[in-house]
Amino acid sequence: MRLAVPKERLEGETRVAATPDTIKKLVALGVEVVVETGAGAGARISDEDYKAAGASIAADEASALKDADVIFKVRTPGDDELALIKRGAMLVAILNPYGDNAQVQKYAAAGINAFAMEFMPRISRAQSMDVLSSQSNLAGYKAVLDAASVFPRAFPMMMTAAGTIAPARVFVMGVGVAGLQAIATAKRLGAIVSATDVRDATREQVQSLGGTFIMVETDEVADTGTGYAKEMSEDYKRRQAELVAEHIKKQDVVITTALIPGRPAPVLVSEEMVKSMKPGAVIIDLAAERGGNCPLSELGKTVVKYGVTIVGAENLAQSLPVDASALYSRNLLNFITPLIGKESKALEINWEDEIITGTALTRDGAVVHAAFKGAN
Ligand code: NAI
Repeated sequence: MRLAVPKERLEGETRVAATPDTIKKLVALGVEVVVETGAGAGARISDEDYKAAGASIAADEASALKDADVIFKVRTPGDDELALIKRGAMLVAILNPYGDNAQVQKYAAAGINAFAMEFMPRISRAQSMDVLSSQSNLAGYKAVLDAASVFPRAFPMMMTAAGTIAPARVFVMGVGVAGLQAIATAKRLGAIVSATDVRDATREQVQSLGGTFIMVETDEVADTGTGYAKEMSEDYKRRQAELVAEHIKKQDVVITTALIPGRPAPVLVSEEMVKSMKPGAVIIDLAAERGGNCPLSELGKTVVKYGVTIVGAENLAQSLPVDASALYSRNLLNFITPLIGKESKALEINWEDEIITGTALTRDGAVVHAAFKGAN
């Protein structure tokens, strides 16, 4: 079985889908690994490191992809790249298929079996394969550092001979993987941290990290049982907005991370709320790629509105390419390992397995994922 690791083509993408560490393990499983030259440059991995791990180096993408049975990528391949992949090959990447049915149809038309890693079901067996968790964790950490770098004050309380500096107040909205790491990082920097979420289970998690939890008191259940939140009722949203409006006025830094799968991000920080914030306050909108938790945020840009600096964060994990690649590669290794036959050393996919039905978009020229079947 031949597995290819091409260089990422998307502008700004610094990560790579395999590291020498994971390649050693793939080689030990009997896989022949080909890496395109320079693929690891962003993650500070040289061709020599890959060679030492047992991979061969291809001079360009076409020769890397030639005859590959499996392709490990970080991001969606472009049309020119798809044309280089042989029919029947397995493509494993973050494919971002929501809202892009045309792209899903392209995988089917090209006869590629495409697997969207961000659709990994949230079951314990798949925890080590979960790319959203591994990348969100880093994003949550980086969001706080980015906030600190544009915030015109210090985070910790400082008692000096010249006077005392009050600690910054950081409010984290959405306590999933990114939110929890943001809370932990802000605490380490000495901030006073509060947080909110629609899922009641997060209350204890926030408190165990030393944060204050604020939440609308309700009987409405937000947890879908899949680890994800559902969209809340209009009444809930109104009450949440009132609660947030009162709290946000006193905050220095707001980190928003709230997402609902397959839906635009919920609006949590309105223009009115931004107006009410202190001058110099900072909002880091980690949901900007999905429309934003704040309507004033602009994807990939830092803007100042009503004296508040608003960062429309774009893919923060890629600003930590070494760790992001190391974790992402391990997710992919953990995903592929059970699919490789011990005797045959070839792919033996159980198409009924929950992990496969959850992630497979296309198979043998047809769209098979429940969310896209019938869509065009
Ligand atoms: P996410 O990225 O989908 O959403 C971020 C957070 O925003 C969630 O906590 C969600 O409840 C919250 N949110 C949604 N709408 C909101 C609103 N209107 N107001 C305030 N907050 C709102 O979530 P993420 O980070 O992917 O994790 C969600 C849960 O899934 C976590 O408890 C995590 O531990 C669990 N998980 C389990 C895995 C497994 O078992 N394999 C893998 C990954 C996560």
